[in-house]
Amino acid sequence: MQITIEKVKDEELKPLFTDATQLGFGKLFTDHMFTMVYRKGQGWVEPKITKYKPFQIDPAAVVLHYSQEIFEGLKAYASEDSRILLFRPEKNAERMYHSAERICMAPLPVEYFLEGIKTLVNLEKRWIPKAPGTSLYIRPTLVGLGAALGVHPADEYLFYIILTPVGAYFKEGFKPISLYVEDVYIRAAVGGVGNAKTGGNYAASLLAGAKAQEKGFSQVLWLDAKERKYVEEVGAMNIFFVFGDTLVTPNLSGSILPGITRASVLELAQYLGYRTEERMISIDEVIEGTKNGTLTEAFGTGTAAVISPVGSLFYKGQNYEINNFQVGPITQRLYDKLVGIQYGREEDPFGWVHEIGRL
Ligand SMILES: Cc1ncc(COP(=O)(O)O)c(C=O)c1O
Repeated sequence: MQITIEKVKDEELKPLFTDATQLGFGKLFTDHMFTMVYRKGQGWVEPKITKYKPFQIDPAAVVLHYSQEIFEGLKAYASEDSRILLFRPEKNAERMYHSAERICMAPLPVEYFLEGIKTLVNLEKRWIPKAPGTSLYIRPTLVGLGAALGVHPADEYLFYIILTPVGAYFKEGFKPISLYVEDVYIRAAVGGVGNAKTGGNYAASLLAGAKAQEKGFSQVLWLDAKERKYVEEVGAMNIFFVFGDTLVTPNLSGSILPGITRASVLELAQYLGYRTEERMISIDEVIEGTKNGTLTEAFGTGTAAVISPVGSLFYKGQNYEINNFQVGPITQRLYDKLVGIQYGREEDPFGWVHEIGRL
């Protein structure tokens, strides 16, 4: 792939953030973006890096009416010895490919996805923050363009990548969060698009999320669409429960996102000697575990939040604490190990980390 690069003039570059510890999440964007288009009959063409700027898009574009949109999220990390690292980026590329197929979009070949990210991140490396826990978040996005109403797949697509330097996802940082167990609204149903990373799933989650936040909770814990009985996932994370030395996470039923952090934590936990189970887990089993003490820890997993300890669950008007609202030892160990691998401090026996350049 031959990427055309139109660099922003030095004097027009944005000022860098001054304090990386105050970045928050997703508010500041870098100078450049990567774009590539798909046209029927031509395939994927015109890979470009240009100034980060607004798009001109037809008001009849398919994405604006029928939500043909998918995205990904991954991070570039600065190691202490100045390497630029990505964590399992091919998994994001593959997931985006599957999301595209599910939403009937032209899938982007995995190698274009990876090449676009590597080139853009290297060009924007001054934006990779170095403070502990910070990184450069990468947001690849694919939208259906075309300009004709009527429910149909687009015949033209835009793929783009934008970058944002980020700190902690939750304002709490690596501290336990409180979850609201949602037993009215649902996020996705088996047979639907819950296992694709498409914007519509997030739109469907906003109302419940906003209500939970109004009541002081960080995020919603979703239950299954049919019976409101089995645990699914959290707003932007998969969920794990620790019973003694066994980690339990809901199986990939079709309605939850197959998280890359989830898959990595399952492998890492086995490597560290814990037992793991992927199965249906009822909210009753979880609540019972908090009461009789067999549920010792719980945590969410996701690229943005990494591993986020869960300190309490609010279900049907009652609050249930987990591990006295403290970070548990298994959660802490998995977090340290995973973050250590991602930032290149720990040995990576799995070959997960890809060095794509130097600072
Ligand atoms: C709904 C949902 N579940 C789970 C995850 C975790 O996925 P990953 O670990 O690949 O970031 C995310 C974040 O991308 C998400 O949005």
